Amino acid sequence: MTTYNLALIPGDGIGTDVTDAAMEVLAAAAKGRFSVETTRFPWSCEYYLEHGTMMPADGIETLRGFDAIYLGAVGWPATVPDSVSLHGLLLPIRKAFNQYANIRPHRLLAGVEGPLKAEGFDILCIRENTEGEYSGAGGRVHEGKDNEVAVETSVFTRAGVERILRFGFEQARARRKHLTSVTKSNAQKYSMVFWDEVTRELAAEYPDVTVSHMHIDAMAAKMVMAPQDLDVVVASNLFGDILTDLGAAIQGGLGFAASANINPDRTAPSMFEPVHGSAPDIAGQNIANPIAAIWSLAQMLEHLGEAEAAAAILTAIEAATAKGIGSRQGASSTQEITAAVIAALEA
Ligand code: NAI
Ligand code: MG
Repeated sequence: MTTYNLALIPGDGIGTDVTDAAMEVLAAAAKGRFSVETTRFPWSCEYYLEHGTMMPADGIETLRGFDAIYLGAVGWPATVPDSVSLHGLLLPIRKAFNQYANIRPHRLLAGVEGPLKAEGFDILCIRENTEGEYSGAGGRVHEGKDNEVAVETSVFTRAGVERILRFGFEQARARRKHLTSVTKSNAQKYSMVFWDEVTRELAAEYPDVTVSHMHIDAMAAKMVMAPQDLDVVVASNLFGDILTDLGAAIQGGLGFAASANINPDRTAPSMFEPVHGSAPDIAGQNIANPIAAIWSLAQMLEHLGEAEAAAAILTAIEAATAKGIGSRQGASSTQEITAAVIAALEA
């Protein structure tokens, strides 16, 4: 039986609640299939208050040897500024391990009512995770003066654009064979025209995949008006960030939005985490919806090659939501939802 070495970082707030839930589900899903050796790391804002850093100096090297990283959520703005907690843990991991594909599925689970009339949508958003508008290239001059200037440059490399689009084409090929590339190439005439060119070059290699080019503003409208027409959506770091919050909204809320930070080359571990944050407003109340976290767990198992266990988890989640358990925010406790998923898994 294969044993996977898992690095677990529960983080802050409901990060702990939902990772506890996910680990119970993992134990149930593993039975008879594989085993997992989990190492828990207390890296969080609490850790920062004690040690002055979000993780130890050798944190990245410690994580490198694991098969996968599973993370709850990080951030406690009352005691540690968000810019410190984000840049001290999550972003360094994504960059150090070249987790360039951020995969976020958006569809309505059985029994879940979204805010839209449309029901039959199944979108796979693929967000570039390492460069673009979030490259961090820029600066400020004449700070605090009347003539102050702030410049932030988007950086798009051929290698970076090509690899994220290629990843998208491969996903489309394995699904409904449609890819929508999202840019703003009418207004941004260098980077986004370049992105369009690379899309067309790659499209020639994937004649079985149909390609649509859409501008980000039109795409925002389409995700509300006709989400059922979308299959795989590929977007830059900023555009993907915004579109996937919209995606979370149309699938019923942040409690349902799963996310995988993938290194498709498998040269380092990938990281799996729900889209949502630490939700200080509901932390410790046993009301956080663990479904986003459990769905991210299924993404992790799929990445590790445990497709059967991954599918079983998704089926179990939907068995619960179809009965109304976890389908509406606040209707069930974290524990009730977790227990229902495990019961369905073991049924
Ligand atoms: P948030 O996602 O934590 O919460 C936004 C709203 O959604 C809140 O009203 C919350 O109660 C609700 N919510 C989120 N997840 C839920 C769940 N599973 N079940 C039920 N309701 C849920 O975003 P917010 O409030 O902007 O950020 C709080 C902290 O989390 C900040 O420190 C922020 O930097 C951090 N954060 C961390 C992320 C990560 O670790 N990947 C991602 C987003 C935010
Ligand atoms: Mg976001």
